[in-house]
Amino acid sequence: MNKKKCAVVGAGFIGAAHVEALRRLGSVEVVALCDAQDAEEKAAQLGIDRAYSDYRAMMDELRLDAVHICTPNCTHYEIVKCAIEHGINFVCEKPFTTTIEQARELAAMAERNGVRGAVNFHSRMYPMVRELREMISAGELGEIFTVHGEYVQDWLLYETDYSWRLEGSQVGSTRAVADIGSHWLDMAEFVTGLRIRRVMAQFRTVYPVRKKPAAKVETFSTADVGQYTHIPVDTEDAAVVLLEFGNGAIGSLVVSQVFAGKKNTCAIKVAGSRSAASWDSEDLNNLSIGYRDRANAVLAKDPALLHQGAAETVSYPSGHIEGFPDAFKQNFKQFYASLAGDGGYDYATIQDGLREMELCQAIFDSARSGRWVTLTEETTI
Ligand SMILES: NC(=O)c1ccc[n+]([C@@H]2O[C@H](COP(=O)([O-])OP(=O)(O)OC[C@H]3O[C@@H](n4cnc5c(N)ncnc54)[C@H](O)[C@@H]3O)[C@@H](O)[C@H]2O)c1
Repeated sequence: MNKKKCAVVGAGFIGAAHVEALRRLGSVEVVALCDAQDAEEKAAQLGIDRAYSDYRAMMDELRLDAVHICTPNCTHYEIVKCAIEHGINFVCEKPFTTTIEQARELAAMAERNGVRGAVNFHSRMYPMVRELREMISAGELGEIFTVHGEYVQDWLLYETDYSWRLEGSQVGSTRAVADIGSHWLDMAEFVTGLRIRRVMAQFRTVYPVRKKPAAKVETFSTADVGQYTHIPVDTEDAAVVLLEFGNGAIGSLVVSQVFAGKKNTCAIKVAGSRSAASWDSEDLNNLSIGYRDRANAVLAKDPALLHQGAAETVSYPSGHIEGFPDAFKQNFKQFYASLAGDGGYDYATIQDGLREMELCQAIFDSARSGRWVTLTEETTI
């Protein structure tokens, strides 16, 4: 079999998840790893033959079908640009870039150079998220009235918690909204097929100064390292966003990285004129459906019971739990199939990455001005 050849740039938390998911496809070979720190050691740990500390040298040297960009947000722009210059397709982690201008420039460049790109909004590939999309598109919920939810975590609850994500220079103007809120926003538009028309946001920075550990800390680590330096924080720990959708539906989103007890909860509730549905990433193989005139239901992930579009992203029979790594696998499966020109796909594209940048910027502008910010006149996707 002629396997597609790819490389991964950035071998931290999410780079390792990409490598694992890619290997599960069987049709893609991870031929190289690039990391700015300890590249050889990290490549050896992941069982990858070639290691590079410089992504440009890697792209100069190797013939790659795609590159996966799994580095901090502020580096996405330059690495994606380099991939496009080399004519290499890419899967970029979210958020796509740190500014709208960068995202627009990359979108135009990719189009000119015929390069295909995906942004890893993997929540689209959870079977029950896709089922919700299919149900809404088939009219099973009726006219959509409200869409609300949350993306909440607790890993930055204490002032001694630290990550590169706390440094504005690494992430752009918003942090919690761009880091996790963007997943929810993408999912909300994806499942409803509706555009968010206006936003009104309020931000809260709980710790304007945090204590950065003197020693290096891995993403999501809770280890106590003893000695600290003080760093100013100008991005939000939490945000509340009011939403108005293209059809007049209203909604809200709570985003927080300082919500005790919530490890990684991304949840959405959509209510329409015929029924309502709720999904929660911490119970992600089930979809709750609410009715006015008959008993409510819980639909479990069972390919035999799902719409075709959702069943296609199921790999195992009912009762066999599929989760976070499986959504990555499904996303990459679609991406590589699209490189081969096979079938339809609905992974998040470069345009979807740009869309999230526009939403994040509007939310930031609203939080700063205290006013509603209008995004687009389009009502549906
Ligand atoms: N899709 C998701 O669910 C999800 C989850 C977590 C993180 N992410 C995204 O993935 C990206 C990485 O996050 P993470 O948590 O894995 O970070 P991390 O800090 O764990 O890993 C980042 C890695 O990139 C390397 N790196 C930094 N700059 C580099 C450069 N110029 N060239 C090569 N390597 C470089 C670092 O040495 C490190 O190994 C972020 O954009 C983040 O938003 C996405």
